[in-house]
Amino acid sequence: MSKILVLYYSRSGNTEKMARAVAEGAKNAGNAEVELSYHVDAEDLANFDAVLLGAPTYHHDIPMDMKRLFEEAAAKGMNLKGKIGAAFGSYGWSGEAPKLLLEIMKNKFEMQVIEPPLLVKYAPDEKALSLCRELGRQVATTLMHKV
Ligand SMILES: Cc1cc2nc3c(=O)[nH]c(=O)nc-3n(C[C@H](O)[C@H](O)[C@H](O)COP(=O)(O)O)c2cc1C
Repeated sequence: MSKILVLYYSRSGNTEKMARAVAEGAKNAGNAEVELSYHVDAEDLANFDAVLLGAPTYHHDIPMDMKRLFEEAAAKGMNLKGKIGAAFGSYGWSGEAPKLLLEIMKNKFEMQVIEPPLLVKYAPDEKALSLCRELGRQVATTLMHKV
């Protein structure tokens, strides 16, 4: 069975709500094991076929923990090539973080990324949560059809 990681950071809970819905959508597709987590070590990334990153934007930047994760993965020369990557996050006015994360996954790690990222302004409403579930489902079905 394929394995999907939904890794998120959230300070006031908005991106966490998104992450839970993304994980639910991925699980409901029924073809992958889904892990929802707020911390993994760089080596753990090797165990997953797809990585969905949930990142709110603070100070026009990506969360420090995710920066560290990719610094460590790069330092250890980890091969993530071809894994599926996607990103989402809550924001207030500029929302750079998910886009920056997709750029790293695509350009540095040669992952196969799903664009554009899913951005939700502040707290996700029911419509936004259903878009989150849809993103999770899309990643799971992409894995299903991947050769
Ligand atoms: C100190 C601070 C800085 C912020 N900086 C940005 C920013 O640069 N760009 C942006 O779009 N939103 C910014 N925001 C808004 C947050 O992204 C927004 O509140 C988001 O919903 C937080 O998500 P979370 O609940 O998952 O932590 C900032 C919020 C705070 C409190």
